[in-house]
Amino acid sequence: MKKFLYLLVIGLASTQLNAAPQMTEAQIGQLLFLDPSFSKNRTMSCATCHEPNNSFTDQRQNTSGQMVSIGDDIKLLGSRNTPMAAYASTSPAFHFDEKLQEYVGGQFLDGRADTLAIQAMGPPVNPVEMGLPNGQTVVQRIQENPFYVENFKRLYGKGVFDMVDGKEMSPAFEAFGNALQAFQQTDEFATYDSKYDRFLKGEYELTVLEDLGRTLFFSNNNVSCNTCHMLKVEDSKKEPFTNHQYRNIGVPTNAQLLAFGHLKADFIDHGLLENPAVDDPKYDGKFKNPSLRNVAVTGPYMHNGVFKDLRTVMEFYDHFNNPKRTINPETGKPWRAPEVPNTVDLADLKAQVLTDRKIDALIAFMKTLTDKRFEPLLEAKDKLEKEKKAAK
Ligand code: HEC
Ligand code: HEC
Repeated sequence: MKKFLYLLVIGLASTQLNAAPQMTEAQIGQLLFLDPSFSKNRTMSCATCHEPNNSFTDQRQNTSGQMVSIGDDIKLLGSRNTPMAAYASTSPAFHFDEKLQEYVGGQFLDGRADTLAIQAMGPPVNPVEMGLPNGQTVVQRIQENPFYVENFKRLYGKGVFDMVDGKEMSPAFEAFGNALQAFQQTDEFATYDSKYDRFLKGEYELTVLEDLGRTLFFSNNNVSCNTCHMLKVEDSKKEPFTNHQYRNIGVPTNAQLLAFGHLKADFIDHGLLENPAVDDPKYDGKFKNPSLRNVAVTGPYMHNGVFKDLRTVMEFYDHFNNPKRTINPETGKPWRAPEVPNTVDLADLKAQVLTDRKIDALIAFMKTLTDKRFEPLLEAKDKLEKEKKAAK
């Protein structure tokens, strides 16, 4: 069914092309994003793991239950939960901010790709993702399609497919990244039309609970959220809900994921320290503060998908401050130790104790950050939860 849809999209796009063959860079990027030709067995595209209908996350069922994605070869699992590609364009290029004395921005959870263009050149040649052996094979797949060839030459120059001395691939591989970047920078990826955005424009009235959550979220002495999940000032338009910095919030390893045996039993994700540009051990275990836009429909959560529900995430935060929150509600057991214990940003996590009502309010507020077109996903999820509760 899904394959059929992709073919349909590509088919429709190419009919449009016959009428108007000159596509923009972003339109070419859209076709590349949906095209399974860039995986070894032609089974997956970027959209397989970043499904446009699912807020650009991977909602396929696989043996890991969506904690991580499965690759083109149908067995290899990754080690990180697939992040939402929506709003990724809000992240600046990876850099060290001298004033803040902090690493900021970049793509991937460790910022190892400076820009979206460089990021896009990763998955096709990642053995556990799309599995092509190298950049030039990606270029060969582009060249199979005369339509791409024509448009690449027009957009990037006649010689874009020619090999350059001393390089292993033609400039077309970089052009592939640029086109995907252009597509990901379009409004399609950042609609800013959630209930919260509509509230800022006076088009939606927050419920009492949502409004309490908003007040808590932005308050400086109650909870800590805005230390990391706010870029601008309270109630700014187009807030990405991350300051694009890196922190260790003490997330434990995902025992269920490790039980699959595809990673070493003592596997540790070192986060920012896995970025080749970073070598100071004080950055060990820090991950990019994620955007909270669409977060209510993009579970499971954290870099390794260790938590299934937003409520668990909230109770996890609270356990740093509330001596009564000793138990992980998903496992029924005490919270496990942080994956990288020495660098946890405890000072930033200090906050007042969260009552259950405050947790309800924060969750209600986060639900208002769902883009309009994904609101049906949220409603379906809420309905399912209610039914589950009623059945208990
Ligand atoms: C097999 C699943 C899979 C495929 C296919 C895939 N991705 Fe991803 N994507 C991921 C995972 C997992 C991460 C996080 C990896 C990391 O941090 O090391 C990621 C990260 C990203 C990010 C960074 C988001 C952020 O917040 O830092 C972007 C942007 C992105 N992918 C776009 C793409 C594009 C464009 C393609 C196609 C060329 C693609 N992805 C193909 C799984 C996938
Ligand atoms: C010290 C910085 C910091 C503070 C304070 C903070 N967060 Fe986070 N948050 C992070 C980081 C970093 C992650 C990702 C951690 C990981 O993957 O290991 C995260 C993850 C999350 C996630 C899961 C997102 C996903 O897509 O997996 C949610 C939801 C969340 N935070 C909400 C909140 C709320 C609500 C508050 C306030 C109660 C808060 N955070 C306070 C840094 C912070």
